[in-house]
Amino acid sequence: MKLDFNNMMQNGMEAKIAKLAPQIKAANEAMVTKREKMAWRDLPYNQERVVKEMSDYVNEMKGHIDAFVVLGIGGSALGPLAVQQALNHPFWNELPREKRKDYPKLYVLDNVDPERLVYFFDTVDVTKCLFNVVSKSGSTSETMSQFMIIQQILEEKMGKEGAKSRIVCTTDAVNGNLITIAKAEGYKYFIIPSAVGGRFSELTPVGLLPAAFCGIDIKGLLVGAAQMDERCKEADIYKNPAHMYALLHYIGMTEGKNISVVMPYADSLKFISDWYAQLWAESLGKAVDNNGKIVNVGQTPVKALGVTDQHSQVQLYAEGPFDKIIVFLGVDEYRETITIPKTYGDMPSLGFLGGVTHNELIKTEQAATEYALTKANRQNMTITLPKVTAHTLGQLLYFFEVATAYAGELLNIDAFDQPGVEEGKNATYAMFGRPGYEAKKAELDAAPAKSDKYVI
Ligand code: PA5
Repeated sequence: MKLDFNNMMQNGMEAKIAKLAPQIKAANEAMVTKREKMAWRDLPYNQERVVKEMSDYVNEMKGHIDAFVVLGIGGSALGPLAVQQALNHPFWNELPREKRKDYPKLYVLDNVDPERLVYFFDTVDVTKCLFNVVSKSGSTSETMSQFMIIQQILEEKMGKEGAKSRIVCTTDAVNGNLITIAKAEGYKYFIIPSAVGGRFSELTPVGLLPAAFCGIDIKGLLVGAAQMDERCKEADIYKNPAHMYALLHYIGMTEGKNISVVMPYADSLKFISDWYAQLWAESLGKAVDNNGKIVNVGQTPVKALGVTDQHSQVQLYAEGPFDKIIVFLGVDEYRETITIPKTYGDMPSLGFLGGVTHNELIKTEQAATEYALTKANRQNMTITLPKVTAHTLGQLLYFFEVATAYAGELLNIDAFDQPGVEEGKNATYAMFGRPGYEAKKAELDAAPAKSDKYVI
């Protein structure tokens, strides 16, 4: 995996980086001293036993189920989707079973939109699904409510013992209700290390179990992550891709670049942008810094897809406000090649396409868009994977995690909490009258009522 940041280096960027040497040094040190908050950095090295356990479980279950269904949200849902999309056939669930080598279909049910769940039940035989209830906290309402609905359906159809064979939990070893339930009901469970937070948990059983159930080389993901870990130990910022990515975004934030666009030029990497959006937004969007000072920092991640969004968002990127850093995510070698026939050689606007491959077309359009944005003085950089494999994907995921943590250090904020999300959760509990949330309920009741004047 390569990071090309040439198009960030105009307007005295080298001098700006040089001036930040003290902050870079402090951030480098923090990445070492705060290691206990970054247990996700050990994941490439300490999961041999659990990888074996997962593989054995897949072999035991695979022939008995049609679909593996993740019940999770946020950090417990976005990674499994991104990895599946990146490494497996884009129409995996539509493939006949033998083409999936007997591995199950994969569904990720994150939202609690009632229509989605009901319509999902129309498409599968629930008794042939294995439901993976994933929750680090073990108490997220969305996930736990889905679990309770599905548990009831399974028990009605299969009895308690039958249902037991269709539920597997992934959660913290001690905290939350899910581990208590899993133990009490006798469900199979996998553990998320307690010091690994939700959005940094993709390389734990949160992401590895669904991937293993879809035949993905999970050891390859971890080996790729370990390789990136080595590169991210480099103190020289010009040799450390994740630190450089973070630093350039940090400088951008100080100059009003409040938007971080990630634009893969590969459908396989489309959901990486969704996963990145949560990681970058939830980690860096913070009201106060480590000294308790109000800072209201962060950068809004925007998900785009090349070339699709050239026909949608790129006009804005090229001519709108100078408030974005655009990250192209490219691939050297696509897994397939397709050639355009020379059908209309006599038509100049079509003739030039004859004999060209879609591989050349997408890569040329990426290069052309990069050129056009750079010409318009728009900051951009390019991450390139030689090919999308478990190995390079492991590198990419780990790269973004380190970049996020390092950006947090540069911003002097806690990248690992999410107080803004908690507020909404607590308000929901209060509205439902959950015991312990009486004060919050009183606060909500005291809030000024909305005026009908502004509802038309
Ligand atoms: O990053 C986070 O911590 C969150 O986005 C969580 O992943 C999300 O809220 C789901 O939490 P949990 O896994 O505890 O159910």
